[in-house]
Amino acid sequence: MPWQISIFSSDSEHEPAGDKCRVSQLSRNEGDPDNLQENVSLNIPKTQGENAIQILAKLKLLNRKLAPQTTGDVLHVPLSRAPQPEEQNQLDRALGKQNLSKEKFASKSRSVGSLEEVLAQQLPSSIVPLVSKSFDVIGDIAIIELSPTTEPFEKDIAEALMKVHKNVKTVYSKAGAITDNQRLRPLHHVLGAARTETIHKELGCRFKIDISKAFFSPRLSSEHNRVAEQVRPGECVVDMFAGVGSFSILIARRLEDVQVNAIDANLEAVKLIRENAKLNRVQDRVKVWPGDARTVIKDNLLGIASRVIMNHPSQARGFLEPACETLRRDGGILHYYTFADGLDSESKARKELTNAIDSSVWTVENPIATHKVRGVAPMKWQIAVDAKLEPA
Ligand SMILES: C[S@@+](CC[C@H](N)C(=O)[O-])C[C@H]1O[C@@H](n2cnc3c(N)ncnc32)[C@H](O)[C@@H]1O
Repeated sequence: MPWQISIFSSDSEHEPAGDKCRVSQLSRNEGDPDNLQENVSLNIPKTQGENAIQILAKLKLLNRKLAPQTTGDVLHVPLSRAPQPEEQNQLDRALGKQNLSKEKFASKSRSVGSLEEVLAQQLPSSIVPLVSKSFDVIGDIAIIELSPTTEPFEKDIAEALMKVHKNVKTVYSKAGAITDNQRLRPLHHVLGAARTETIHKELGCRFKIDISKAFFSPRLSSEHNRVAEQVRPGECVVDMFAGVGSFSILIARRLEDVQVNAIDANLEAVKLIRENAKLNRVQDRVKVWPGDARTVIKDNLLGIASRVIMNHPSQARGFLEPACETLRRDGGILHYYTFADGLDSESKARKELTNAIDSSVWTVENPIATHKVRGVAPMKWQIAVDAKLEPA
């Protein structure tokens, strides 16, 4: 797999804005717009990336001289030319929703070589292909994945990364799976200052993040954007599992006439939501509630919400009752999240929600929108289900 496909955009404090920012993860040309080339781009969710590249290669539509790039969860693939109508039909059939635009790309010979080149200088050649191609950048902190084979070379890998991606000042590696209810990942410090706090920019907001104390994933930025775009003036939103406030603050930044209630049981997350609300000057319309979402809703937020966000995929199923209780009596929208696997993952997620709602005093209005937010394991995804609920 080429390096670019699995690298997530970093929107760090230290990065330049615009196109330069977008390609800076991918190329040693960072900060040098002269080395970027405008080209037709096919834009597609990253989950479809490998599929798209295979089909484009088959249709001889792939521009192999330019490096694909990412913006949030969208992959931009450079094309050798615009597709003919029949080719476009084939793409539509195989890939579903995608669009074309003009984007700036770095030349592959300069960009793809760069990280691999630096790694090749520092690691035995047999190890280079084994280095994981996927890492997250949060502010100026990178989180890499190591295997038992690549772990002995962790410092070299981190050093190569920092050489190529100048905005990265600190590198941690994943030191285990996320298992606890606060969704915190055990981390191991590899290189750079041993600090866990940073400022991350996402969709025009600034977030103070502490990667050791509260959940945050840069892989959710498209989802934050997708939900925030649906909120209309005058709405009351309850964000039941708010983390550092990614949905809540973005919604409040976009709309003045909105009331957002951000709940989290992790008191460190709550502290960060409060700081982030101030950082983005939206503290007047983001009310922060520490504690268990069930109790907070029962005691304070009954029958008020036009929209409820339930982004805690492993647990959301158990919180549908309070989610319905916080909805206005005439109904509203639920953004429900779960994990599901297999070819019918979206239909499984939809059924999980409708089966639970069917036994309540609500009905779900059809059609229910579902989509894959991100892959979490082979053939397993985080799925978003958007459902409009009405009194039965
Ligand atoms: C997946 S993370 C949040 C993601 C966040 N909405 C985002 O998009 O970045 C789930 C969050 O739910 C919080 N949480 C876990 N159990 C909770 C509960 N019973 N009530 C409220 N929050 C809870 C965790 O502390 C964690 O911050």
